[in-house]
Amino acid sequence: MHFDIANLTTSAVYKLLTGLVVPRPIAWVTTLNPDLTVNAAPFSFFNAVGSEPPLIVLGIGDHPDRPKDTALNIEQTREFVVNLVPESLAQAMSDSAANLPRNVSEVTELGLATSPSQKIKTPRLLDCPACLECTLERILQIGGNRIVFGNVVSATVRDDCVADSSKLHIASDQMKLIGRMGGPGGYTTTQGIFQIERKK
Ligand SMILES: Cc1cc2nc3c(=O)[nH]c(=O)nc-3n(C[C@H](O)[C@H](O)[C@H](O)COP(=O)(O)O)c2cc1C
Repeated sequence: MHFDIANLTTSAVYKLLTGLVVPRPIAWVTTLNPDLTVNAAPFSFFNAVGSEPPLIVLGIGDHPDRPKDTALNIEQTREFVVNLVPESLAQAMSDSAANLPRNVSEVTELGLATSPSQKIKTPRLLDCPACLECTLERILQIGGNRIVFGNVVSATVRDDCVADSSKLHIASDQMKLIGRMGGPGGYTTTQGIFQIERKK
């Protein structure tokens, strides 16, 4: 079956892309609101896109009537934390996507525990197994998308998710992260790892 993108509505293109590009990692992004409360929202248009310098990217759309708080906060503070989402926090992560008024903190509303970050002012989510502290590299506005590039300046990983710290081996499966699949409520776990031997 062929889909001609030019003849599809925006919502149809969204369904097609998010159904096909799976699984997607989820960045549960914390930012500081102007009143210094903590905003949290999930973004699955997210990935690591380079290591020299270490770069991550987020694709942030708009609410129907206004820009998303996350984008405004990143523009203002020039920093954010990407918290990686474990299965145990799936429901809270989903609930944090509610369209709350600006300056209403999802972290306060949902009773999420935070912890100070190492290098930036924005706190991380304490119960996530890993987080990446980021400073803003730049934002590209392309149509209705704000493409946010972040420099990763610090990483915190729960001790039991580090298999060998001297070799920087992360026990990725131990983090029990979830990923986004197609459909309105579709998610996947990250269990079921398999290895492919590299040919010399
Ligand atoms: C799993 C998941 C992934 C999401 N990914 C994105 C995304 O990549 N880009 C986006 O603009 N919104 C995404 N959303 C919707 C935002 O989380 C939602 O609009 C949220 O209210 C934004 O909050 P804010 O205004 O506090 O920034 C996603 C929602 C969920 C549940």
